[in-house]
Amino acid sequence: MPEASRDLFEIIATTRSMRRLKPDPVPAELIRKILEAGTAAPSGGNMQRWRFLVVTDPELKETVGAYYKRAWDENVYPRYSAGAPAPGTSSERFRRMLDAAQYLADHIHEAPVWIVPCMEGATPSRTAGSSIYPAVQNMLLAARALGLGATLTTLYLAFEKEVEAALGLRADVHSYALLPIGYPMGRFGPVRRVPLSEVVYENRYGRLPMRQDPLRDHRSTAIGLYVPLHRLPALDQQRLLDGARRRRDRLSSQRRGTQTSAARGR
Ligand SMILES: Cc1cc2nc3c(=O)[nH]c(=O)nc-3n(C[C@H](O)[C@H](O)[C@H](O)COP(=O)(O)O)c2cc1C
Repeated sequence: MPEASRDLFEIIATTRSMRRLKPDPVPAELIRKILEAGTAAPSGGNMQRWRFLVVTDPELKETVGAYYKRAWDENVYPRYSAGAPAPGTSSERFRRMLDAAQYLADHIHEAPVWIVPCMEGATPSRTAGSSIYPAVQNMLLAARALGLGATLTTLYLAFEKEVEAALGLRADVHSYALLPIGYPMGRFGPVRRVPLSEVVYENRYGRLPMRQDPLRDHRSTAIGLYVPLHRLPALDQQRLLDGARRRRDRLSSQRRGTQTSAARGR
């Protein structure tokens, strides 16, 4: 029984890369739903220059899968395994991610369906990508909602020319990702990300949010973030603590004053 889900925020929070997929076939109507979710995405000027190549041919998947595996074995695995874990992840968790990615590299051709989102007439660029990746994310979310696993992959691009030729793309068409899709072997779980306070600035790039909340030892911001005190620059920490101490002293002397006058009135 696939783990289908209907709540958008739950879907967003559990749309992880699912790299271990069963080879069982996926009903055509589910793939159609995923493609419809893709084409519901925005694109610049609503031009919809996207094209979606659905690949199920086992031979073609083997040919392209071999390039994917070469790219993983020769370029990506050596780099990731020698480097630091992703931010917010422990070494152990990162190692498990690499194991799953290794599994995908070895078995990508066994995923029953691939969707290769392409763009016509555009040189690959940031602008062109902006008109296709919303569709890609919509498809990942739709797959998750239907209980299907998928992963956004791009590492085959190390052999872009060979892969695009094998897929029959014209010279003026480019692929932007390859999404292997199938029923997952494992369970969906929460995505792991660093907290907002590490990646959100306010008004100027690099500036931490400014509103103070002296009753806590962190800063409450105009956008509702709590920035832990230890993440603020030393000078800010000092100012914040001094301000909080002054307010606390003022409050307690006011309280003492009230108590004294209340005692006098007795
Ligand atoms: C632009 C992009 C390219 C990616 N390429 C690959 C890839 O080629 N192979 C792969 O296994 N994962 C790939 N990923 C998946 C990321 O590694 C994954 O999203 C990230 O580790 C976070 O894990 P999660 O999706 O499970 O939360 C890619 C993701 C993005 C956004």
